[in-house]
Amino acid sequence: TVYPRKMTTAPLRVVVTGAAGQIAYSLLYMIAKGDVFGPNQPIILHLLDIPPMMGVLEGVVMELADCALPLLHDVISTDEPSDAFRDVTAAFLVGAMPRKQGMERKDLLSANVKIFKVQGEALNKYAKKDVKVLVVGNPANTNALICAKYAPSIPKQNFTAMTRLDQNRAQAQIAERLGIPVSQVSNIIIWGNHSSTQFPDASHAVVEEHGQTTSVPEALQDAAWLNSVFVETVQKRGAAVINARKMSSAMSAAKAAADHMKDWFSGTIAGKFVSMGVISDGSYGAPKDVIFSFPVTIRGGKWQIVQDLEISDFARNLLDITGKELEEERQEALQIIEA
Ligand code: NAD
Ligand code: LMR
Repeated sequence: TVYPRKMTTAPLRVVVTGAAGQIAYSLLYMIAKGDVFGPNQPIILHLLDIPPMMGVLEGVVMELADCALPLLHDVISTDEPSDAFRDVTAAFLVGAMPRKQGMERKDLLSANVKIFKVQGEALNKYAKKDVKVLVVGNPANTNALICAKYAPSIPKQNFTAMTRLDQNRAQAQIAERLGIPVSQVSNIIIWGNHSSTQFPDASHAVVEEHGQTTSVPEALQDAAWLNSVFVETVQKRGAAVINARKMSSAMSAAKAAADHMKDWFSGTIAGKFVSMGVISDGSYGAPKDVIFSFPVTIRGGKWQIVQDLEISDFARNLLDITGKELEEERQEALQIIEA
């Protein structure tokens, strides 16, 4: 019998912050079993949380061991950013306070933005210079901006914020409305902020069925629903989950984080795009130097904003509203940090 040779690919160091929390509990399993970096890529997980959570984190480490996952070569659990961020190639920045019922995500700025200053500084000092950073902790876009600001030796393009959950939510809403599987719906765009001002835009989205491609607006024949109920449902889905669960979304957030990082590392399919909060160059009239969610294609680990999509007057107005909110959040975040 010929047995497969021992895997020779060097393990990838991946940090997850907030590792003792809700989202991490789902996310760590997905990463460690190969959903993100592929079935042949060994992983060393770096788990960061705060000192009072070290006991809980110990339990998570026990469970990871008990999963007996072949790709998981080592686990480092720590409350020290210097150990957590050393030599990492991918960073999931999840650790932050979640909002409670009745709050907007930006209400978390004062509690959370300082975390992302400290972690930006630690990434700058200890991480690989090509580290890919995904900020999940809210308010994700502005936290990512602050993180990048304090990591000047790492390209700004390497800091992204998660709007993939919004994209997945939007995809699920469209598929349900049309009574088709989610796999047949693609190219939905989330513009702007991961907040209730985001603009979920299905005007460029497509449905693929039996080798035929139809635009979503054409398949739906219901512009009124697309411009009202659909937009509002996606904008308020996070709050709806909090109202029901009394805790913010975790399983779906972990799945979205895995999707985001997987696409960033392995690329998008020809003709398809995904949405990511990335540093704005002013495309589509968005304000510059905020982390704005755009449609992007990815090749060779680099994202590019999809250009030349048509923007209706309806869309223009919503893009401006969410852009303005991001400028306001940036100002508030800088005030908090400089105070
Ligand atoms: P949680 O409270 O269950 O877990 C957060 C963990 O982060 C806790 O264990 C906490 O101790 C830890 N933490 C706090 N400060 C830290 C620090 N400085 N360094 C390391 N760890 C730290 O919360 P959760 O449900 O896992 O959510 C985490 C964050 O993700 C929240 O801000 C939430 O609003 C956000 N979120 C974002 C999206 C998105 O789509 N972008 C989706 C869902 C949740
Ligand atoms: C979500 O979209 O579910 C998260 O950002 C959590 C929240 O506060 O809504």
